Amino acid sequence: MTEHDSIRAIRWQDHALLLLDQRKLPTEVTYLECHSAPQVADAIRDMVVRGAPAIGITAAYGVVLAAREHIARAAADWRQAIAPDLALLAEARPTAINLAWALARMRRVLEMNVPAPVDTLLQEARQIHADDINANRQMGQLGAALIEPGSAVLTHCNTGSLATGGFGTALGVIRQAWGESRLTGVYADETRPWLQGSRLTAWELLQDGIPVDLIVEGAAAALMQTGRIKWVVVGSDRIAANGDVANKIGTCALAVNARYYGVKFMVVAPASTVDMETASGTDIPIEVRGAEEILTLAGQPIAAAGAGAWNPVFDITPAELVDAIVTERGVVHRPTRAGMQTMMAASKPAQSQ
Ligand code: MRU
Repeated sequence: MTEHDSIRAIRWQDHALLLLDQRKLPTEVTYLECHSAPQVADAIRDMVVRGAPAIGITAAYGVVLAAREHIARAAADWRQAIAPDLALLAEARPTAINLAWALARMRRVLEMNVPAPVDTLLQEARQIHADDINANRQMGQLGAALIEPGSAVLTHCNTGSLATGGFGTALGVIRQAWGESRLTGVYADETRPWLQGSRLTAWELLQDGIPVDLIVEGAAAALMQTGRIKWVVVGSDRIAANGDVANKIGTCALAVNARYYGVKFMVVAPASTVDMETASGTDIPIEVRGAEEILTLAGQPIAAAGAGAWNPVFDITPAELVDAIVTERGVVHRPTRAGMQTMMAASKPAQSQ
């Protein structure tokens, strides 16, 4: 199933990290070259790269760049010298737990005192990257199996190859379901204010030969009312121990509408997005970005001069509104704390529980 999966947003090439600049899509396809950890932290904060798993993978490569730079300066205390770089990476964006998760994996390598740390760190970053793609393919199969043939689906934000190591989470399920001829249609909402739906998801699906219809967020309830869609399929930036889900602003509204109109709601995310240390959604930090993202579009003012704006970029969907959480370790139906614990305890990809 590779014919609907051609895009890779993160590349390690000739000792540099190349990031597909998602601020410029869909009109320009250019890669930003990063040579230092502060550059990588800026790229994450400024949305050159975005999406929880992609942020984690990018930060892991950022640690490689940090170690290389400080070791090259022949600093005897290079392990201490890279601490500010690690802190910069960790602080780049607060909601996606994949960032802290990937940095913790890289820290474990740093603490191992291996003789060629840059090579070993690069190996670990590459492993994080490869594991993510494998997890996505596994989730694609588990999630697609839940979708009855002949269904249309609605997705939110961008959760595809652009947001991950490759293949995607929710968009991976859609890719897989499309490949299995289960889908009659794919709807994506625009995803204001950053337009991840219309700029990124639509571009990515069309690159891979999957047709898509865009709707404005306000049309989601009307679409559900028509009976055309059977599932809303979304990703997540962090899933709490009780199954509450943090995801792109607007996700909670979709879940509320879906329950009202009898549409099923699926969350697809790797185990690295599950944060069993966070008891519930109320404990998840929600990133609030600048008002200008709402008040302007492509640099042009679009709101009445003088208007203020509140711009939380994620929301929390309560577990009770979720029909299925799909990870590479298995599917949790109607998630509860106990169901999440059982799924996380599975070491290998599992069957539905
Ligand atoms: O602000 P973004 O574009 O980083 O938000 C991304 C999302 O909300 C995605 O749904 C989430 O990270 C999952 S990506 C596989």
